[in-house]
Amino acid sequence: MDNNRRKFLRRVIVGTGALAVGIPGLAKMSGTGDEEINRSKENEASDQHFNMCGYAAPKIETVRIAVVGLGQRGSEAVERLSFIDGLEIVALCDKYSDRVAASQKTLEKMKRPKAKEYSGEEGWKALCESKDIDLVYTPTPWHLHTPVALLAMKNGKHAAVEVPAAKTIDECWQLVETSEKTKKHCMMLENCCYDFFEQLTLNMTRQGMFGELVHAEGAYIHDLSKDWLFNKNAYADMWRLKENASRNGNLYPTHGLGPVAQCMNINRGDKMDYMVSMSTHDFSLNTMAKDLASKDSFFNEYVGKPYRGNMNTSMIKTNKGKTIMVQHDVSSPRPYSRIHVLSGTKGSVGKWPSPEKISFGHRWIKKEELDELYKKHSTPIVNHIGAIAKDVGGHGGMDFIMDWRLIDCLRNGLPLDQDVYDAALWSCIAPLSESSVAKKSKTMDIPDFTRGAWKKNKPVSLSLDGGATTQVRDIKPDLKM
Ligand SMILES: NC(=O)c1ccc[n+]([C@@H]2O[C@H](COP(=O)([O-])OP(=O)(O)OC[C@H]3O[C@@H](n4cnc5c(N)ncnc54)[C@H](O)[C@@H]3O)[C@@H](O)[C@H]2O)c1
Repeated sequence: MDNNRRKFLRRVIVGTGALAVGIPGLAKMSGTGDEEINRSKENEASDQHFNMCGYAAPKIETVRIAVVGLGQRGSEAVERLSFIDGLEIVALCDKYSDRVAASQKTLEKMKRPKAKEYSGEEGWKALCESKDIDLVYTPTPWHLHTPVALLAMKNGKHAAVEVPAAKTIDECWQLVETSEKTKKHCMMLENCCYDFFEQLTLNMTRQGMFGELVHAEGAYIHDLSKDWLFNKNAYADMWRLKENASRNGNLYPTHGLGPVAQCMNINRGDKMDYMVSMSTHDFSLNTMAKDLASKDSFFNEYVGKPYRGNMNTSMIKTNKGKTIMVQHDVSSPRPYSRIHVLSGTKGSVGKWPSPEKISFGHRWIKKEELDELYKKHSTPIVNHIGAIAKDVGGHGGMDFIMDWRLIDCLRNGLPLDQDVYDAALWSCIAPLSESSVAKKSKTMDIPDFTRGAWKKNKPVSLSLDGGATTQVRDIKPDLKM
């Protein structure tokens, strides 16, 4: 790399790092500006340092894990991970020390040794810089995902970050550049890829049972408004509400997008080319804020904010001429949905509205036929660990399948199912949707984070070859989540 480019990248990294760790509510207004788009194009035009797709890191016999962020998701992760053999939870970190103490209690309950403790706003920095950690697992608020992952990788650790991995295009590129340069994995923990129907339909797609996929749909439609967004006790420091009160677009695209992107071999034979996005106005969030503020002055600061429009719909075109529709609505009183529609030349799939459905023509197949497909075409990963995962719990088992698979891959030196390019691509839809929405649904080019390697990258492996050596501890009834 020439000196100018090195200087340029340093500028990108320093400039956005300061922003990225800022308080979400005070961050710049949402979306990707022209300068950031130009930087992204320049990155895209340069050479890949190293291809992390299909990369097998050296085996780690016992994976030493640090968990940063011990709120709802992180405290559950500590419990789930404790069931897996071949790992040690060696460090725990949260801004609030009482949360660290609560997770220490979980370790005690699970008969695991005490972990080293870190706390305070910047405790994660000392953790990332410390020795004797192999993997930093980060379920913090969104604005910390990239900074923690970057520091972890720069200090020789693999990074696993909750969804979305990044909030800006600059951050996406920082993850890619750092993972390539350090040869450390950066996996986004997109658990929905490991749900049972998603795994079944991925395997059936791979076998050509739906023909050529033409179109797919995914979503995150989940009414979080009363119980989460405006609930003072549900999560830390109102970070979710601040995100929703300052950005407008699809802020959480990866749950719907990840599983269908894997089915369509995105980054591995096809790539996302461009997108358009449209949001409704906000018809309820500001009203809810006003209502709450009239009874509790705590909510005064959330009145009159530029709330995200209730429903966002984005359309993506791939290079091979296929389309993907992604929706996001966390504030309307609707039943939960990630849609999961796949439409091919020989068949189609739909998960929501439930029940799960598959068709090979004009009608959905019968329940008994679907049961047969589950028996015949569930993936080796699900067949191996699915029943145990259901027993442990965590979104019906998919969380545990994901954790087990991650640890098993690290222990056996296998490539991870989700690499840094997936993390960057699935996450970048959020800032691009914000820009498109802000500019009357303007078409936005989607960066190629693989810098051309998508043409040769192999589809994600559905096999357990070389792995499946990681055991799970006894699940006594009182330990089930
Ligand atoms: N994949 C899924 O199904 C799923 C489900 C829920 C949440 N999530 C993701 O998990 C993450 C956490 O969500 P949550 O619901 O647990 O939120 P939460 O607020 O309950 O937990 C976040 C934790 O991070 C801590 N934290 C904040 N700043 C910190 C800092 N500077 N250093 C260390 N810790 C800090 C908070 O104190 C809190 O304990 C989010 O990214 C969210 O999107 C994913």
